[in-house]
Amino acid sequence: MRLDIITIFPEYLAPLRLSLVGKAADRGVLDIRVHDLRAWTRDRHHTVDDTPYGGGPGMVMKPEPWGEALDEVLGATPAPVPGERPTHPGAEGGGTGSRGPSGPVVVVPTPSGRPFTQEIAAELADRSHLVFTPARYEGIDRRVVEEYAERAEVRELSIGDYVLAGGEAPVLVMVEAVVRLLPGVLGNAESHRDDSFAAGSMAHLLEGPVYTKPPVWRGREVPEILLGGHHGNIARWRRDRALRRTAEHRPDLLRAAPPESWDAGDRRC
Ligand code: ADE
Repeated sequence: MRLDIITIFPEYLAPLRLSLVGKAADRGVLDIRVHDLRAWTRDRHHTVDDTPYGGGPGMVMKPEPWGEALDEVLGATPAPVPGERPTHPGAEGGGTGSRGPSGPVVVVPTPSGRPFTQEIAAELADRSHLVFTPARYEGIDRRVVEEYAERAEVRELSIGDYVLAGGEAPVLVMVEAVVRLLPGVLGNAESHRDDSFAAGSMAHLLEGPVYTKPPVWRGREVPEILLGGHHGNIARWRRDRALRRTAEHRPDLLRAAPPESWDAGDRRC
């Protein structure tokens, strides 16, 4: 998978060299390219922002540097001016254009995007090229999203109902969620099967508590059932604890769970 990240703070993405994502890159599973947006400015001051039309606080990111950066990173020709014949492949629908499961996805982190979920992480993990456009200030001139939505898949995504100073931290979050789903990245292929929010037998439930050695720590014992080795009983216990935790922390998930996700042994809380 290729990841391009275009930012005015390339150093902010340094953690991508560490841990799971960094190791995946070292092993060649990932090709991560972090770009400085200012490289695509043409003025002496490398200006990337300007005052908003219509007034209001803050600054807006100018479309020109983003346009030049995205053209280069996507390897695309600019979209035709209205009225002109489209020249890029796939522009008239069908064909082999960049839109579609095999083409790049432009991910625009923004608090006004659709919520980023495990399901979206899995969809992005199926693609071979993701381009992230973390913004600063009040965001990017709207025409940039309009322009690239015509020749790539653009997804505006929010990592939660709070406003951060920029999109770089959301990029770190989304990249980690996506990369750990790539084949061969996690040590144990099963280790994301029962994750909170994952599809599968524990779908719609938060993960319950986990324990390791020693069996007694500061007088606190590991639940006996986990020491017994009876797989059926352990699976039932885990599901009950997951149900209890979900009822406490995320009752909305239980309410939204489809009837077929309920197990014969579940007691509705
Ligand atoms: N940029 C600022 N806040 C954000 C959020 N919550 N999600 C995605 N991008 C953001």
